[in-house]
Amino acid sequence: MPRNIDYDRGEWRYVDNHDWCAGFWPGILWYLYEGTQDRKWSSAADRFTRQLVPPGKQTGLDHDVGFVLFNSYGNGYRLTGRSAYKKVILQAADSLATLFNPKVGTILSWPPMVKKMGWPHNTIIDNMINLELLFWAAKHGGNRSLCHIAVKHAETTMQNHFRPDYSAYHVVVYDTVSGRKIKGVTHQGYADSSMWARGQSWAIYGFTMCYRETHKSEFLSFAQKVADIYLKRLPTDRIPYWDFNDPAIPNAPRDASAAAVTASALLELSGFVHNKVKAVYYRKQAIAMLAELSSARYQSRDINSAFLLHSTGHHPAGTEIDASIIYADYYYLEALLRLQKSEKKKRNL
Ligand code: GLY
Repeated sequence: MPRNIDYDRGEWRYVDNHDWCAGFWPGILWYLYEGTQDRKWSSAADRFTRQLVPPGKQTGLDHDVGFVLFNSYGNGYRLTGRSAYKKVILQAADSLATLFNPKVGTILSWPPMVKKMGWPHNTIIDNMINLELLFWAAKHGGNRSLCHIAVKHAETTMQNHFRPDYSAYHVVVYDTVSGRKIKGVTHQGYADSSMWARGQSWAIYGFTMCYRETHKSEFLSFAQKVADIYLKRLPTDRIPYWDFNDPAIPNAPRDASAAAVTASALLELSGFVHNKVKAVYYRKQAIAMLAELSSARYQSRDINSAFLLHSTGHHPAGTEIDASIIYADYYYLEALLRLQKSEKKKRNL
């Protein structure tokens, strides 16, 4: 599956179907089908979706099972209703639930980091996104406990994963036995105390989705708090630097992927917020982000065959810096479709 095009390369770097990014390409193809209704996209999407490794056959389960199998099979089921897809999604949800520790109240996001980093029970903010798989399964014939796990994970994260200004830690480490929080640290951000851009985007998106799935007002107000600090600290073009606290700013790399995730999330959030002024504000911010991403400064155009340039994957590891990355394209397309749908809805009213 295509994963990234480094800034000095013209071609995609491909990864095998165990990679955490393997579901984004099939997901993009499903979105292209949704946007065009052209069957050439659904047959390509189906072909790539079925190449993914189903739960049970995977080695090394972690929370990314949601990114891989929900963006692919999940979108596929939503658009085609094929029962074979549904079976895989339900199995994926059951697999993800095995990582839940009831004592802590969250999913163990990265089992390999238990040993590698000495992080007994670790939960990363990215994991919020994959709760959608659990909510979906609980509503589509899976065990109801999957919904309780998702709610508990979100509530525990709300309590432990944020600083007083509502900026997120990337990783929170918990004691496996007592369930107590040990510390908040980073893995992909600049520092333990910094606001890693994509992490904050995952939080905005994740709590908005939790409100959609549960209608619990605490998730709606929390989504706004984590969005507000992000929006307040953005540079004027609204595309964040990869980490809001990198001292190299304004010479630090940007992260277009965080902008795409946030734009998509804000479009959804603006539809939920009761305060009209605030709803319009979120929508305008999202549209401005999409306009900037759609300019020659961020669209790949003739440079390469991705949609977007200038994303940052793992800065501390020195990988995917100022690159085209497949998940930036996925959320960009998702945001454009959300915008198109909401414009159509407004016109029909
Ligand atoms: N979920 C991994 C990342 O955002 O880079």
